[in-house]
Amino acid sequence: MPLLDGFPATLEKRRMARILMCPPDYYGIEYEINPWMSRSRGAVLERARQQWQMLYETLLRLGAQVELLEPQPGLPDLVFTANAGLVFRQTVILSHFRYPERQREEPVFADWFRRHGFKTVRLPDDLFFEGAGDALFCGRTLFAGYRIRSDCLAHQEVARRIEREVLPLELVNPHFYHLDTCFCPLAPGQAMYYPPAFDEYAQRVLQERIPCLIVCPEQDAYRFGCNAVVVGKRVVLNAGCDALAGILSRHGYEPIQIPLDEFLKAGGSAKCLTLRLDGEDAAIWDG
Ligand code: ARG
Repeated sequence: MPLLDGFPATLEKRRMARILMCPPDYYGIEYEINPWMSRSRGAVLERARQQWQMLYETLLRLGAQVELLEPQPGLPDLVFTANAGLVFRQTVILSHFRYPERQREEPVFADWFRRHGFKTVRLPDDLFFEGAGDALFCGRTLFAGYRIRSDCLAHQEVARRIEREVLPLELVNPHFYHLDTCFCPLAPGQAMYYPPAFDEYAQRVLQERIPCLIVCPEQDAYRFGCNAVVVGKRVVLNAGCDALAGILSRHGYEPIQIPLDEFLKAGGSAKCLTLRLDGEDAAIWDG
């Protein structure tokens, strides 16, 4: 039996994480669509460039293959590629943003996916859906945040298209307006989250469905510690999340903290700046 037990693991093919990023050439705080953004607290472009570059190089160093989307003038939030859509195998369910400011990104993302061989799916026009920012696989189940940006009905449509179980989770704190700001799958059956970002029912769903649920301390949640990029056992997150980093280490992960505060000014951090392109199991990356 021990031999057979180990068999599937040895068969599992090691894959390289494939990630989409967009350089911050035209990044800035030009409008206010979440509580983090204030035009009076603009981004320092040179620092943003350095921080983005450090994230990019860190991911390359961890063995990820990073594809780059060409930045576009007038689209300051295009850097947040997590919101391009939800990739499921060779199909992408395209985002339809709640705010007109970001709707202008939709054709740019759609065009990139088409040119790179993805089958693109548009949801009905009256449904808002903000892609992998609000929809994250943990194991085979898709966890989906709604109310502040994406619509709950949009997630039902997604469930129908990908024929997977989707668990909608109501987000209640405007500071944590996308699911990926307060929830981060680490492996099948394991995730970290910031409970007060969810309504009570959603908290119960998470507790019942994810056996190992790590609570992110409040201070680090407000530094977007949950907005982390997971590559195997490595977790890339914003600098200064020391308590969370300690907890991750105790769970056998290697936290890698890099300064991303220029992107916090727009309400984003590591995870928002990336989109997984290689399939459904975003939480089980090979490092
Ligand atoms: N300023 C952007 C917005 O409010 C930030 C997006 C962050 N993305 C994310 N996946 N959480 O839409």
